[in-house]
Amino acid sequence: MNTILLAADEAGIAQAGRLLADGQVVGIPTETVYGLGANALDGAAVRQIFAAKGRPSDNPLIVHIADFEQIYDLVTVVPEHAKRLAQAYWPGPMTIILPKAACIPDEVSCGLDTVGIRLPSHPVARAVIRAAGVPIAAPSANTSGRPSTTTAAHVMEDMQGKISAVLDGGACAVGVESTVISLAGERPRLLRPGGVSHEQLEAVLGPVEIDRAVTQKIGDDVRVSAPGMKYRHYAPHAPVTAVCGDPEKGAAYIAEHLSTGAGVICFDEYADRFAGHIVHRIGAADDLGAQARHIFDALRAFDETDVTEIWAQCPDDAGLGLAVANRLKKAAGFHVINV
Ligand code: TXA
Ligand code: MG
Repeated sequence: MNTILLAADEAGIAQAGRLLADGQVVGIPTETVYGLGANALDGAAVRQIFAAKGRPSDNPLIVHIADFEQIYDLVTVVPEHAKRLAQAYWPGPMTIILPKAACIPDEVSCGLDTVGIRLPSHPVARAVIRAAGVPIAAPSANTSGRPSTTTAAHVMEDMQGKISAVLDGGACAVGVESTVISLAGERPRLLRPGGVSHEQLEAVLGPVEIDRAVTQKIGDDVRVSAPGMKYRHYAPHAPVTAVCGDPEKGAAYIAEHLSTGAGVICFDEYADRFAGHIVHRIGAADDLGAQARHIFDALRAFDETDVTEIWAQCPDDAGLGLAVANRLKKAAGFHVINV
């Protein structure tokens, strides 16, 4: 299959919409990361997503909508607190898990009785969903296990020859995936930290539990709330060590311990401490927005090098830091050093 690169203009969006309506898979930009989209109501179309990604078949997909009202067709109930959350943070980087309606194929929900719904803010994402005329199931557009894709070039790298087209909407503004919040259980539960912070969720919902898979390694035998959380994720080929705590101390620790062939992911202020190594800076120590935008690009870039190990400075858990730290710790297989 020849994967075509479409410009995100009127013609490109219309063509992407036609391909999606026709049951094909298209890489689409969103404000968080690129998605691998297919008609969410067409099980056969959705199966091709799993094949293109090499995704485990027990890992459910998020369904994307362009207008809030579409949610009523996809879930059995929209509780009051879900409406308040949507009002506060949609369109935007948040996925709400609710009991699924009968129209959701098992290929999307993978045996669960719930479905994740997201209304993205990226104008191209919404335009292409409208052009397709159906809700769009879309996981991140990376090969399973690899870091997520935040540019059309990343998607081409992983999906060339495996999907019909990629719609190029430029670099993603948030850079880490959406926050996944479950409202399907007794209490609200944060399953994956993302572009909407835990603090922002609590401002609307009151107390929100953080699933332990966010901060800890979960054994293979344990049943987790978000199936995706149990897989090794976001991992470059070389092993990663995440260094948390005071950034100055962290930089000193890395400088002292790194081997000759090591690469470093660091905050801008510390880049000159690692002369002679391949260094990717992800933003200033206090600029969590920049860190979120650059983290996946940094992790992916090391795969084009022959570094033997990667040391990464990791922000603390406040605000967007919880999402950046979660991606880094997962990339590190929770090999974390606290300085
Ligand atoms: O920002 C995003 O959410 C991106 C863009 C494309 O929208 N999508 C994305 O999808 O990150 P994916 O498939 O890479 O991650 C979805 C996560 C997985 O960890 C999955 O297990 C979890 O959400 N998930 C999906 N549906 C679920 C459900 N019904 N219950 C629990 N977890 C669910
Ligand atoms: Mg993903």
